[in-house]
Order: sequence, then C-alpha cells, then structure tokens
Amino acid sequence: MKHQVAAAALQHIPDDIVLGVGTGSTVNALIRLMCEQGKRLAGCVSSSEATSALLRDGGYEVMDLNSSGELALYVDGADECDPNRCLIKGGGAALTREKIIAAASRRFVCIIDASKQVEVLGAFPLPVEVIPMARSHVARQLLKLGGEPMWRENVITDNGNQVIDVGRLEIHDPLAMEDSINGIAGVVTVGLFARRPADQVLVATADGVVTL
Ligand code: A5P
Repeated sequence: MKHQVAAAALQHIPDDIVLGVGTGSTVNALIRLMCEQGKRLAGCVSSSEATSALLRDGGYEVMDLNSSGELALYVDGADECDPNRCLIKGGGAALTREKIIAAASRRFVCIIDASKQVEVLGAFPLPVEVIPMARSHVARQLLKLGGEPMWRENVITDNGNQVIDVGRLEIHDPLAMEDSINGIAGVVTVGLFARRPADQVLVATADGVVTL
C-alpha cells in the first residue's frame, strides 16, 4: 500500500522543482521510486537527517530552506488523518522540521494508507517535541489538558530535543489543542497539523488510491 500511494504521489510532482520531502516509511517508498524512475528535481528540502541521507544516496541535492525560498510542493506521510485533513505527525520524531517545511510550502500532499484515517484524532499518541530541561514541566501541563504524557526515552530529535507522546486524548478541536500545547513554555512543536493541514491526502485502500 505504501508503494501504491507513493506511485500516486509521484504523478503530482512536476519535473525540475525543489521538492519538500518528509520522513517515514511511506516517504522512503516515494524516494525509492524517484530513484528507480530517474525523477528529475532541481533539489530537495528535507525534514530529517534520515531523509537527507536517502536523498543524497539517490543523487539528489539537499538544499537549505533558507536558500530555497518558498516551496511549490511538500510530500509527507502522517500517523493519523481526520476528515478535515488535520493530521497527527511525529511518530518518527521529525515533527518540527516537518511543520516548518509544511508552513513554507504552497501545497502539502499527504500520503497514507487507510489505517491512518480516523473520525477523531488522538488514538495515536500525540508527539510533542520539548526542550530537555522543560520535559517535566511540559508533562504536568499536558496532564492538566487531560492527556497521559509518556517520555519517549532514548530518542533525541535532529534538533537535540526530547519527545513526549501524549495518550488518552480525544481531539475534537484540533486548532484549539494545537494552540494550547504550543503555548506551554518549553514546547518546541506539537505534532498536530491543524493550522496548516494537508491540502490533499492520497489514501491507499484495498480498492486503489482515493483522494481527499
Ligand atoms: C515522522 O516524524 C512522521 O511524521 C511520519 O510522517 C509519520 O510517522 C508517518 O510515517 P510512516 O510513513 O512510516 O507511517
């Protein structure tokens, strides 16, 4: 299914653009396909060191977002997607760079399989990247919001920070939840993509790829 939706995403990528590239196994399938088919790009802006390594191995130039300017297109996976194309992301701990690239892109195409579709976000524990010294403080504030914070031990993000995964949330108002968590001192990024949802979601199903 990841291969199927990656192949569909490839059709959305014009030649010779600077492409924003996300992180995760679905995006890895896309990178593999781009390499196999010799996809021509002017360069890529990458959301993680892992993605950058794969892109460089495939012969693609990885550019700095500070010199690329606004991006025409960003393609990335997600951990959950609701009917309004709001997302939970960050299962791979790349949420901060992913959110920056999504914000800097005119168009964000998200690629998932049908298992990621939910009516209400929150069954997947919500990742929150935090400044290390603030971890316990942030966890206490997340408890007050009704969540069950769990420290993702032994994970350091590409930005040198830590990750808290918040379980037991039913996110009926993703915009409000994103703003509340972003407002806690010490939070770098919350993995809720509601202020900047996907513009288009390609979903791999047993009957083929469906577009939201
Ligand atoms: C990375 O931090 C995440 O946001 C990924 O986009 C998300 O976890 C999807 O990954 P898979 O494509 O591996 O399911």
